Amino acid sequence: MDLPPNSAPYSFGGHVFYRKLNRALPIIVRGEGVYLFDEHGKRYLDACGGAMVANVGHGVKEIADAVGRQAGTLAYVNGTMFGNEPVEALADTLVARSPAGIEKAYFLSSGSEAVEAALKLARQYHVQRGQPERSIVIARTPGYHGNTLLALSASARAHYRELFEPWLLEVRMIDAPYPYRAGPLGDAAPAMTGDALQEAIEQAGPSKVAAFIAEPIGGSSTGASLPPAGYYARVRDICDRHGILFIADEVLTGAGRTGKFFAIDHYAARDGGPIVPDIITMGKGLNGGYVALSAVLTTARIFETMREGKYGGLMHAQTYSHHAVGAAAALATLRYMDDHHLIERAASVGARLQERLRSLSSDGRGAHLVGDVRGVGMLAGAEFVADRTTKQPFSRALKIAERVVDAGLQRGLVLWPNTGHADGVNGDLVLVAPPFTISEAQIEELVALLRDSLADVAAAIGESLQVPTVASPG
Ligand SMILES: Cc1ncc(COP(=O)(O)O)c(C=O)c1O
Repeated sequence: MDLPPNSAPYSFGGHVFYRKLNRALPIIVRGEGVYLFDEHGKRYLDACGGAMVANVGHGVKEIADAVGRQAGTLAYVNGTMFGNEPVEALADTLVARSPAGIEKAYFLSSGSEAVEAALKLARQYHVQRGQPERSIVIARTPGYHGNTLLALSASARAHYRELFEPWLLEVRMIDAPYPYRAGPLGDAAPAMTGDALQEAIEQAGPSKVAAFIAEPIGGSSTGASLPPAGYYARVRDICDRHGILFIADEVLTGAGRTGKFFAIDHYAARDGGPIVPDIITMGKGLNGGYVALSAVLTTARIFETMREGKYGGLMHAQTYSHHAVGAAAALATLRYMDDHHLIERAASVGARLQERLRSLSSDGRGAHLVGDVRGVGMLAGAEFVADRTTKQPFSRALKIAERVVDAGLQRGLVLWPNTGHADGVNGDLVLVAPPFTISEAQIEELVALLRDSLADVAAAIGESLQVPTVASPG
């Protein structure tokens, strides 16, 4: 693209209202595989797929062609008046990959929209089956489900919530299972076993609860933490006993990120049989970032209840829902994943990624910063702590996660920061979630760049510096 002359620094002086206004953002002009290139030719290894989105890598011609073909054939019709072939085919494809019982797919653009619609779907379902008193939603902390007001209400994300607290709805929060910080159980036991959910339901009044929403494997919340075996079987059982819908938010983990199509699929083996959520949300990697698309998947029972009600469908309207080009991009992305066995690759090469990342805690001048490395498939989290024995987090004031990300960018490595998971305010980690196409040599490059970035941060904060710390959350 031709830029106007003398436009530098473009992302600071131009007319775009960017997300970060306190620094100039590099302008990226091209992506290829796991690499991004800026306007000056600097190369970045995209170790987080943008925001855990670029599952199949950048610049995949087959997907670009499919998007172009669909845009030239039929770009848009309104979802209230017409169906279209790509959404029909995509719904078939997704249902075929979903746990048995999931039969229908509703398409939107962003993950937040999908969560918003999923929660509305849960509420409308209960109202239409004659239980209008069910309005309470239970979610987990740490947990993240998006930034529109209902999705944000269900998210334990203090810095995003702060300004808008007066507008948020009450969502009951329970502790998320968080093995690294659970220690030798004790206080954390209810969170790890699912008892916390049972207690929250009893407290709210079981007949008043509409839904429980959770990320099956932690994304930008508990940073790639896996709840223990048995957890989701218990969640499913508790929800069934009380007539509550279980919403699995797979916006980040869906479409293969963890080495299975859905993160909840890992629990079929761990929990002694498939766990079938009532509603599944997807987004991000569903179309690899090529066109915005998200999905809400649900069961025939919930769908039939929508059909039978007086409203004639789900009361959620968005102009760009059921978008033909978005669906074509997702179909091409899923086809590309199949043709190149990328989900199997996310599992096998992902195991190598996990193993190599674990060496960060023992090797390098910044190793002492690394309290834990965990994850599965192509989703990993590295958590940084001031004291590895007590797991005491760094003071938020030190901005360790942000420093690691900045050091990475300097070196040409893109990481995703996360904060606040240790106690709501403190806690620093980075997510590593590269395209599934990453090669073993590129994994070595990623790990070396991350090790050097940690050394930069260790040097910057001073290894002998008396760092301000906070009380251990235990
Ligand atoms: C689990 C989960 N749900 C929902 C969302 C919101 O998605 P979006 O940012 O596309 O609105 C995110 C985004 O990070 C997410 O990780």
